[in-house]
Amino acid sequence: MDIKKSNSTTFSQKENQFKEKSTKASMQHSQLMKLFEDELKDIYWAEKALTKAIPKMVKNATSPELIAALTSHLAETENQVLRLEDVFASIGKKSTAIKCEAMDGLIKEAGEIMEECETGAMCDAGIISAAQKVEHYEIATYGTLRQFAETLGLTEAVKLLKATLAEEKAADAKLTEVAVSAVNMEASEEKA
Ligand SMILES: [Fe+2]
Repeated sequence: MDIKKSNSTTFSQKENQFKEKSTKASMQHSQLMKLFEDELKDIYWAEKALTKAIPKMVKNATSPELIAALTSHLAETENQVLRLEDVFASIGKKSTAIKCEAMDGLIKEAGEIMEECETGAMCDAGIISAAQKVEHYEIATYGTLRQFAETLGLTEAVKLLKATLAEEKAADAKLTEVAVSAVNMEASEEKA
């Protein structure tokens, strides 16, 4: 009798523990989903703002390599806005932008750099530095978003976010290449 009682208690305790665990897991899932959506709205605003900010960088740049790198990334950025709309669609949500204060600050800083420097090599260096800060912010954001999407089991979103993350990393590497070749060019000019 006692054994029976204790067995049934153990079973119901286990059942409760299981229920508690699954409630906790579903709460964590919905909180992570909210975080994912908030971050998505933030980067959607940021990408849209960049489609307006990059042309200003192109206008102020002088190095043909820098102009080419920025122009090609502008086209990618326009496509990234559309890709984010696909991510929103993949989770059944309307594309919404919420002002990203961090990107707003980085864009403002880029504007100040361009205002303060004379067009030429120094201004190009300033533009590269500002653009790389932007890329690093985006790499961090897309890396997090991709990880969240993986945890949430959002296969389509993972695929889309991975594609953009690869473009951001390539854009960053290209800017480093432009910076290194500009420094080498100046050094060889000084030698001559
Ligand atoms: Fe981007």
